[in-house]
Amino acid sequence: MKFFLPITIITSTLLANVKARWHPAPGLTWDYLLGASNSVIEKSNQQVVTIDLEKAQTYVPYFHSRGQKVICYFSGGTTEYRSDRTAYEKANIVLKSGSGDGWGNQWLDIRNKAKLQPLIRNRMKRAYSYGCDAVEVDCLGIYNYRSDYTEEDSYVFAKWVAQTAHEENLSIGLKNVAGIAKRLEPYFDFAIVESCAASPNVCNIYKVFSDNNKAVFMVHYGNLGYKLSGSSLNTLIKEQGGRGFTCILNEHQYLQKNGINYNCSTGAVIS
Ligand SMILES: *[C@@H]1O[C@H](CO)[C@@H](O)[C@H](O)[C@H]1NC(C)=O
Ligand SMILES: *[C@@H]1O[C@H](CO)[C@@H](O)[C@H](O)[C@H]1NC(C)=O
Repeated sequence: MKFFLPITIITSTLLANVKARWHPAPGLTWDYLLGASNSVIEKSNQQVVTIDLEKAQTYVPYFHSRGQKVICYFSGGTTEYRSDRTAYEKANIVLKSGSGDGWGNQWLDIRNKAKLQPLIRNRMKRAYSYGCDAVEVDCLGIYNYRSDYTEEDSYVFAKWVAQTAHEENLSIGLKNVAGIAKRLEPYFDFAIVESCAASPNVCNIYKVFSDNNKAVFMVHYGNLGYKLSGSSLNTLIKEQGGRGFTCILNEHQYLQKNGINYNCSTGAVIS
């Protein structure tokens, strides 16, 4: 049976589904909840929350109803145990020999765009269908782990990952890769940075984002020795303060608990 919708309904339905890409500006509060249980996720009242892509279908509507934005996480450069794992294995892009990422995942052949891009695009399509405001695509920096890949390989990879997100109408955050962050800034909508205060002047690289009115979400971890007092706080302030960043402390890299937002310039907790 054929069924014709009046043209006005089709048009307004399409318009309703197209939303402008999210461009987060500096100054938002954030929670980074990749390892958190549902009850911890539900407690988060920060303006922006990052959750795993697999939680997005359940939690994007929840956070949107409360006026919060959602960044959906997956890894771009390594294997993961997701529903599409078999497709990754079949594509023959898993680097079986050599070192992995230290979290039980193997690196992928990021030079094989023909095979890898459709897999990443499928995840982005899922993120878009769940209503994610943005994606965080992790593990862009294979060159920091394996000498058979260059910085240029990672740059080319990260650039097409960002372009793919934009083709799918998703905002995308640059994750880490400080060595190429400045060159990649024009292609990304914001940044997510871990542990940048571990070496002097690394956090500062991301000032190019806040200078261009793009949010920079920075996290340090208690299990790596960071706390909001003493010399640890002095280091955090020195490396992050006065640059328009969002700064949070999470108890552990496992990201099972709600983080603490603090003023990057003073360490004062923002509640
Ligand atoms: C992306 O947005 C454009 C308009 O800005 C629209 O034409 C296109 O259909 C959208 N694509 C997706 C995948 O939603
Ligand atoms: C952080 O503290 C400084 C100094 O008190 C203040 O000027 C600034 O507005 C604070 N920033 C935020 C985001 O609260």
